[in-house]
Amino acid sequence: MDWQHLDFSFRPTAGSIRMDYAGGQWSAPEVLRDTTIPLHIGAQALHYGQACFEGLKAFSLQDGGVGLFRPEMNARRMLHSAERICMVAPPEALFVEACRRAVELNLAYLPPYGTGASLYLRPLLIGTEPMLPVMPASTFTFIVMVSPVGPYYKNGFSPVDALIMEGYDRAAPRGTGQSKVAGNYAASLKSTLEAKARGFPINLYLDAREGKYIDEFGTSNFIGITGDQRYLTPDSPSILPSITNDALRQLAADSGLSVSREPIPVSRLEQFVEVGACGTAAIITPIASVTHGDKKVTFGDGRPGPVLTRLYHDLQAIQFGEVADRHAWITRL
Ligand SMILES: Cc1ncc(COP(=O)(O)O)c(C=O)c1O
Repeated sequence: MDWQHLDFSFRPTAGSIRMDYAGGQWSAPEVLRDTTIPLHIGAQALHYGQACFEGLKAFSLQDGGVGLFRPEMNARRMLHSAERICMVAPPEALFVEACRRAVELNLAYLPPYGTGASLYLRPLLIGTEPMLPVMPASTFTFIVMVSPVGPYYKNGFSPVDALIMEGYDRAAPRGTGQSKVAGNYAASLKSTLEAKARGFPINLYLDAREGKYIDEFGTSNFIGITGDQRYLTPDSPSILPSITNDALRQLAADSGLSVSREPIPVSRLEQFVEVGACGTAAIITPIASVTHGDKKVTFGDGRPGPVLTRLYHDLQAIQFGEVADRHAWITRL
C-alpha cells in the first residue's frame, strides 16, 4: 500500500463487521468478507431512504498502539439519527464493539504512524424489510465498513474557495438536518456538482427559512475566527452536530479563545479573519473565500491562518497519540 499517497476513497480491505436486527434483538457481530449483500429489492432503505450512517477514524498511535477517536459520540449520533427516521440502531456499547472488531480485522490496512493517513470507519444502518406502504421497517442491517484514507482534499491543508449556491437548501429547520441520514446527502448532490462545475470545491448553505444565517458546508460545520480571538460556530436546528467541531471548541477554549455557538448572519462574514470547514475526513479545511451572488469575501492572505492551523495540529497530535489525551477522546484497542 502506498500509504503516503492515499486519497479519500474506498479501497478493498479484509472485510466488514455485520449485525442484523430482527424480532427485537441484534445478532452477534460477524465478519463479512464480501463487499455485497443480498437485499430484497423492496427494502425500505432503497425506496424510502430509511438509511443513516456515521464516519470516524482509527489511528496508529506514536507509542505503537491503535486508537479510535470518540466512537461513543458516533454511537450516540447514530442513535439520534435512527430515532428521527424510526429505525433501531445498535446500543452504544455494541456499536463501539463492532467498530473495534472492524479495526482488528483490518490491522493490515491501518496506515502506519508517521504517514498522516488513517483508517476511516463507515458504520451504516439500513431498513431491510420489503414494504410497499411508506412505513418504518422492523428489520435492519448494521455494517461497519472501513477504508484506509489520506487527506480528503487532494491539496491537503490548503485554503479552498467556497460558494453559497443560490436556489438550493440543505435541510429544513424541522427536517432531518441534525441527523446523518442518507437523504440529506442525496439532496445535496446537485448543488455540490454545480458548485464544482463553477470551480468551487465546497459549498456553504444558509438557513432554509430566511436564507439569512450561515448553516454549514455540505459535509462539514462552519467555524469563523474573529480578529479579537473568538471562535464562532453557528447555532442552528438544521445542522449536523459535528464531533470534530465539538473537539475543536474544547481545544480552542483550552488555548484561551472565547468560544460561542450563535446564529451567524451571512452579512457578518467580513468579521472573520479565518474561516474553516471542520469534519472527520479533513479535520479542518481552511476557507480562502466565500462567494455569495456577486460578492466575494476573502479571509487572510491565501494561506491557512494561525489559529486554525494551531487547532488542526493540536487535534492531530491528540489523535496520533503525540500528546496526552487530556480529554479522554481516544479509545484504545
Ligand atoms: C453535513 C455534515 N456536517 C458536519 C460533518 C462533520 O461531522 P464530524 O465532525 O462528526 O465528522 C459531517 C460529516 O460527518 C457532515 O456530513
